[in-house]
Amino acid sequence: MPALSDATRGRLLFGGDYNPEQWPESVWRQDIRLMREAGVNVVTVGVFSWATLEPRPGARDFGWLDRVLDGLGEAGIGVCLATPTASPPPWLGARHPETLPRDEHGSVVWYGSRNQFCASSPVYRAHAARITTDLARRYGDHEALRLWHINNEYGTACWCDETAAHFRRWLRARYGDLDALNTAWGTAFWSQRYDAWDEIIPPRRAQYLVNPTQALDFRRFTSDALLECFVAERDIVAAHSPEIPVTTNQMPLFAGLDGWRWAAEQDVVSVDCYPDPAVDWRDPEGPAHGALVADLTRSQARGPWLLMEQAASAVNFRAVNAPKPPGVLRQWSLQAVARGSDGVCFFQWRASRQGSEKYHSAMLPHAGPASRGFARVRELGADLARLAGLVGEPVRGARIAVLHDWSAWWASQQPGRPSSLVDYRRLLAGWHHALWRRNLTCDLAHPEADLGGYRMVVAPHLPLLGDTALAHLVDFVHGGGTLVCGFATGVTDADDRVRPGGLAPELRALLGLSTVHEWWPLPAGATLALDDGTRAELWSEDVEVADAEPLARYAEGELAGRPAVTRSRRGAGTAWYLTTLPQPEALAALLARAAEAAGVGPVLPGLPEGVEAVRRGPALFLLNHTTEPVTVPLPSPRTDLLTGRAHPRELTLAGRGAAVLTPTE
Ligand code: GAL
Ligand code: ZN
Repeated sequence: MPALSDATRGRLLFGGDYNPEQWPESVWRQDIRLMREAGVNVVTVGVFSWATLEPRPGARDFGWLDRVLDGLGEAGIGVCLATPTASPPPWLGARHPETLPRDEHGSVVWYGSRNQFCASSPVYRAHAARITTDLARRYGDHEALRLWHINNEYGTACWCDETAAHFRRWLRARYGDLDALNTAWGTAFWSQRYDAWDEIIPPRRAQYLVNPTQALDFRRFTSDALLECFVAERDIVAAHSPEIPVTTNQMPLFAGLDGWRWAAEQDVVSVDCYPDPAVDWRDPEGPAHGALVADLTRSQARGPWLLMEQAASAVNFRAVNAPKPPGVLRQWSLQAVARGSDGVCFFQWRASRQGSEKYHSAMLPHAGPASRGFARVRELGADLARLAGLVGEPVRGARIAVLHDWSAWWASQQPGRPSSLVDYRRLLAGWHHALWRRNLTCDLAHPEADLGGYRMVVAPHLPLLGDTALAHLVDFVHGGGTLVCGFATGVTDADDRVRPGGLAPELRALLGLSTVHEWWPLPAGATLALDDGTRAELWSEDVEVADAEPLARYAEGELAGRPAVTRSRRGAGTAWYLTTLPQPEALAALLARAAEAAGVGPVLPGLPEGVEAVRRGPALFLLNHTTEPVTVPLPSPRTDLLTGRAHPRELTLAGRGAAVLTPTE
């Protein structure tokens, strides 16, 4: 099977989405000259080219793309060739309205933007297969081709009749017979029992709350239906160019697709990383978010991955879109490489003068080649060239796994739960942030994945936990591992059915609890004092311990005196339970304490706050996310690959400065 190394060929990939069809050919020559000047070695072509390639049904206009690929190839610039199937031309929707998605209300989602396709539509799939086949035939052995890029940021869900039929087929395969479905969905509740398969529909807009397991299965189905589209196109391109790896650029921390299942189908796992819409560049959460996206993508890929898109400076989807302050672009790019990316790519090469993203930054901004923005891009290209030796190297030292499961996420997004303030993604990010700020390197893992390489496993929020996963966690602890569970872990099974007693018996035994009497979610903004001097928020639980040791108790409120944090020894291991969410500082201290007891320490001891350290291959990356200079003591003499300078004992990093250190020869 082809791999990322077949695309990188010993260089960190550097480039971006290239949309030459938006420009006259005279501009293309300048593009190639400037790409070479900046050290660009790969560009993604064709993402949104369907209407240009197939201006009317069955027509083909490949001439321009021939010239683009030939020109890039002659200049030594590799091509990541996209199938254009994310944005069908208007003629497809106009002639075949059944290819257009419908929302929960049954309303059509029209063309005129992008991503307007129904994954279940055989007509869409047939047209997508035809254009993909022709592209693969024509360019499958082009010398510039390095990587196939299928579609773009899959994620469109649909509630139409075609989807309903497809959903039923998926459900038949899952449950076999209707009785099993009725049992799994708990349709005795509210008179929802199904008497025939044809009665089943996607969870459309209803009078009141829809069946939660129906909704959960629909999330699973939608992810699988889109994955079928990916696999179909992947197989077409792979048949024409078996030696070229295939990817699709996923959205980071995106609820719509089960990233573990998707990663298993790809040669290369790639991601688009724009900071969380709630987070501005200047927000201290920015680098933590980048680290989480990188760690998740690396864990999906089980090794090197690719940062397919980021912004060179400002985006255009926030209320106020500030440019990246000087240093941030370099810093966040190096962070991706430190955490396993074999490249740094952008949306997009040249800023568009028209269309919805004309105010989105680009490698080559509106201000042109003489701009500060382009100078920063050139400097980044030079930095990345100095790090070519790290291509393919693994990230080292991850002895902690953060458990993450899309089914748990989907279950937690349902209405009708104890607290709508509980936000899966924020909990996952909060726990990861706690580890990140202590420089405790971690991976993410599905709860059923092999946990053998980890000493500590943390479960920020897995309210839904299937039987296999449970058994797995019990084995992990008995075998000597440390497990730290967040509140409400394991309340429901894989169908989101509350377990007898409200907590899986295996987990109750593991955690040393006898009863969880009640959940006491907290109002927005409220905090509770614990008797260890820390404060907690969001949630609390009235638990009774059997033989666990209470490490902290509630010091106020209705639960004053009851256990808040517990620990139990089981077999050769330890299981912690947090009945609440400690505030960030306290959570970081608690996880660091559990890690230390598990024999896991930070990348370097004594790092100043705000300095990120990661080991990749022979290199130690140091990233100063603060705006003040800091001095870092070094364990042994090191040389900075970025500057060539030797640092015998210590290193001073400028504000937003970075170093990539290897042992001095
Ligand atoms: C990505 C997308 C690109 C572009 C970019 C803007 O989600 O793949 O096509 O829209 O966002 O930030
Ligand atoms: Zn549909």
